[in-house]
Amino acid sequence: MCGIVGYIGNTDAKEILLRGLEKLEYRGYDSAGIAVQTETGVQVFKEKGRIADLREIVDPAVETFTGIGHTRWATHGEPSRENAHPHQSTTERFTLVHNGVIENYLQLKREYLADVTFNSETDTEVIVQLVEKFVNEGLEVNEAFRNTLSLLHGSYALALLDRENPDTIYVAKNKSPLLVGLGDVFNVVASDAMAMLQVTDRYVELMDKEMVTVTKDSVTLQKLNGEVVERAPFIAELDASDIEKGTYPHYMLKEIDEQPAVIRKIIQAYQNEAGELSIDPEIVEAVNHTDRIYIVAAGTSYHAGLVGKEFIEKMAKIPVEVHVASEFAYNMPLLSEKPLFVFISQSGETADSRACLVHVKELGYPALTITNVPGSTLSREADYTLLLHAGPEIAVASTKAYTAQLAVLAILAHVAGKAKGLGFEADLVQELGIVANAIQVLVDTKVEIEYIAREYLSVTRNAFFIGRALDYYVGLEGALKLKEISYIQAEGFAGGELKHGTIALIEEGTPVIALATQPSVNLSIRGNVKEVVARGAYPCVISMNGLEEEDDRFVLPEVNEMLTPLISVVPLQLLAYYAALHRDCDVDKPRNLAKSVTVE
Ligand code: G6P
Repeated sequence: MCGIVGYIGNTDAKEILLRGLEKLEYRGYDSAGIAVQTETGVQVFKEKGRIADLREIVDPAVETFTGIGHTRWATHGEPSRENAHPHQSTTERFTLVHNGVIENYLQLKREYLADVTFNSETDTEVIVQLVEKFVNEGLEVNEAFRNTLSLLHGSYALALLDRENPDTIYVAKNKSPLLVGLGDVFNVVASDAMAMLQVTDRYVELMDKEMVTVTKDSVTLQKLNGEVVERAPFIAELDASDIEKGTYPHYMLKEIDEQPAVIRKIIQAYQNEAGELSIDPEIVEAVNHTDRIYIVAAGTSYHAGLVGKEFIEKMAKIPVEVHVASEFAYNMPLLSEKPLFVFISQSGETADSRACLVHVKELGYPALTITNVPGSTLSREADYTLLLHAGPEIAVASTKAYTAQLAVLAILAHVAGKAKGLGFEADLVQELGIVANAIQVLVDTKVEIEYIAREYLSVTRNAFFIGRALDYYVGLEGALKLKEISYIQAEGFAGGELKHGTIALIEEGTPVIALATQPSVNLSIRGNVKEVVARGAYPCVISMNGLEEEDDRFVLPEVNEMLTPLISVVPLQLLAYYAALHRDCDVDKPRNLAKSVTVE
């Protein structure tokens, strides 16, 4: 989703901004732009489409040492050059980039800017016009900016240029992520440290409703009442090579292949000196003190939550509800007496999940965040955090973060259960090691999955995924992967549910991918496969060693029954990958999608 960069220093700003935007491409966007300070004023370059298109129109002769940049994921107004950021005030004195949504922008327009002509349909333009209005009324820029911020309802990360103060970038944030990076006689602004890792690894976190005045040799944080805030920087512990594709054609394939290493890393990270799985005792206490866990998440993380429910209920015997964040925020269920909220989020920035967390904290309930990004908003604002240790995930379609979420949830469930004399039935360290080896086998034999993708998914317009028990949840994730990147209409169903309506869609040759890895429901899912075959479906049964039947299309190596989701998802990720590839889709940056959804 929208990404922001800014640079102020003494080298060519254009290239640093463009490279920064390229690093933010993974977040998803449909237009991009930069604005730079020059001898003759601020110049704006913006274009619908990719950063490569923007590069084409940026004048290489422009000399500039200060600028801001933006990737836009359309919310207010279609993707177009006019709606692309940066936006300028009427006199072009002020230039602004914005990530977030201003909920009261129409009201502000009516109340303060009735006589202003707007050039775009965005909510953002209201902000830059308000700053100009207050400056015209006699306020200093800093004050005008703060005055404007105090009127905004909603979420924003902002970077503002003033033609008359070319040595400063004004920055502010509320709900949307933003960092200020520190350099030697330069400073930067970025939605994500990855964007500016090329120039610095030292960053200062911004809190909601703070503004920052950034020059090339100073960074001044203030609250909206003007009070100056001191905050020490942190070092972004990202390896630049982690965010490169290396020899891989796509990040998604690289990230699928990294899964065995991620599982091993998680085992290590959660082992104590005695080699036992261990979790911060305060978290274990919080889990065991609750009478009900509410998992709140979105997308793939929600699917991980469904599997997590099974883990926690079986290993720790605590009831769990799993909720979609965007619904939970507005339609909270009746809560138990001692709830514990668990937020699962790869990015730690998903606005829907964050809205729930804010609400839950207002109500005074404890919250745990399970995330891949230390220091992310959801991590900072929850009482406890468990990290996924998956390394940066760049492809929009989440893969290694999902398996990492399952591994961490299994460890949490086991350690919490063990504290009560329950826990995983076998040695979880050993079984997760077997899982890592099994995933290795799968990624080493991916050519077989490529054949299946070609055979089943090259021309179809739809596909169904069915499974029972844990396989059902994995089917939901398999369907999501496929639709996200190949645009095939794909749906996951509980095996028995298909015949209550959806079976009407089965036609001659409709692909039905059936997971059969659960001994307890093996016969029933086989029955469901027969039902769809009788109506013309083209079945692709993915089973597990020990449960396989003659016509099964793919047989997974055997792992502990409860841990099967960690491996059965891998062929589904690969199926989606190859289907997208065969259909010439942009695998890593699917249309309309964003990696980090920072608006509600
Ligand atoms: C977006 C991404 C999905 C992701 C979801 C939740 O929709 O495209 O891949 O699963 O957000 O993201 P989170 O970072 O909270 O796990």
